[in-house]
Amino acid sequence: MWMSANHTALCWAPKILIIKMVRRKSLVLAALLMVSVLAALPAGWWLARAVSRGLMLPAPPPRDLTHYMKTKSLRDYLMDIDLLLEPSRTSCDTMSNIPGGNYLESKQFNDILVFDFYDQYQNLTLKTALILKWASEKCPQAKFIFKTDDDVLVNPWMLYNVIKDHPNAQLLGYSINETKLHRDEYNKYFVPRWLARDDVIPQYLSGTGYLINGAYIKSILHTAYTVPMMNVEDVYITYLVAKKTLNLTLTHDRRVSPMRPWVTFSCLYWQLAAAHSVKPTEILRIWPNLKIIGKEYNRKKKVCLGYEFFNKDIFLY
Ligand SMILES: *[C@@H]1O[C@H](CO)[C@@H](O)[C@H](O)[C@H]1NC(C)=O
Ligand SMILES: *[C@@H]1O[C@H](CO)[C@@H](O)[C@H](O)[C@H]1NC(C)=O
Ligand SMILES: *[C@@H]1O[C@H](CO)[C@@H](O)[C@H](O)[C@H]1NC(C)=O
Repeated sequence: MWMSANHTALCWAPKILIIKMVRRKSLVLAALLMVSVLAALPAGWWLARAVSRGLMLPAPPPRDLTHYMKTKSLRDYLMDIDLLLEPSRTSCDTMSNIPGGNYLESKQFNDILVFDFYDQYQNLTLKTALILKWASEKCPQAKFIFKTDDDVLVNPWMLYNVIKDHPNAQLLGYSINETKLHRDEYNKYFVPRWLARDDVIPQYLSGTGYLINGAYIKSILHTAYTVPMMNVEDVYITYLVAKKTLNLTLTHDRRVSPMRPWVTFSCLYWQLAAAHSVKPTEILRIWPNLKIIGKEYNRKKKVCLGYEFFNKDIFLY
């Protein structure tokens, strides 16, 4: 009996003890929890706000591609676009449509083309097609035309060397290989699948600058009239039309660069025929230096000695 009672007591005692301990512990824990919840409230509120802000997607960039549902014919689009201004011609009757700055610059240098259409990123294909059309009609003697953008610093001396190194190239520029079309509508280069079916683009030339051999301008334009148009200009002209449909060769030269040097020494720009993402103020600063180097170069002097090491894509971004 005793043994058994004692045994029971021994058995229970720890149990009770344990329960007590837990109870005491839970009180402490509860108090700790209260304090930490109070302390965590502002932090939690801040975190929740940050997370919800992070999760809240901004509206996709404004872009209207629905007009492609009506027609993807480049010819239809070009038919509706009037030429307002071109070299050696200043038509006063259309002057009211021409932005004043363009009109004055054209008066001064006589080298501007103005077309009457909505200048918006998604209409870039039209801009390039209009260049091709104008060049094939008004400048058929051109050996090459160079299509580039206004945020590109062009070095005509190096561009000339690029052409000299590939005189028979059909299209010439910076070759970008095995990329995919962007199906994400938040991307600047978004192309819906109904607009272009190709998911993978085996090869195209970067639209920041590429050369088209004059002998192929007409055939590229006329073939483009048969290839459904889309908004990503360089992929459309250099891949879908020139390479995929016409089987033209896209020649790669890294000097026609879609990048720019990390360090803004004029000699690093000199080594390139084109540098991209350059601000107007940078162009104004570097261009006079390129002209000085160019003059020396014209006199057959060695220029930019010691910079050869940096003439690689790893020094560009
Ligand atoms: C250019 O883009 C705008 C906006 O996406 C569109 O409304 C317009 O019709 C396009 N085409 C021309 C020829 O302006
Ligand atoms: C793309 O391919 C061409 C030849 O097929 C090659 O010369 C070029 O270096 C490649 N482009 C890049 C950026 O590596
Ligand atoms: C495309 O051109 C290449 C040469 O650049 C040639 O080898 C190939 O046979 C041509 N393909 C077709 C389908 O004509």
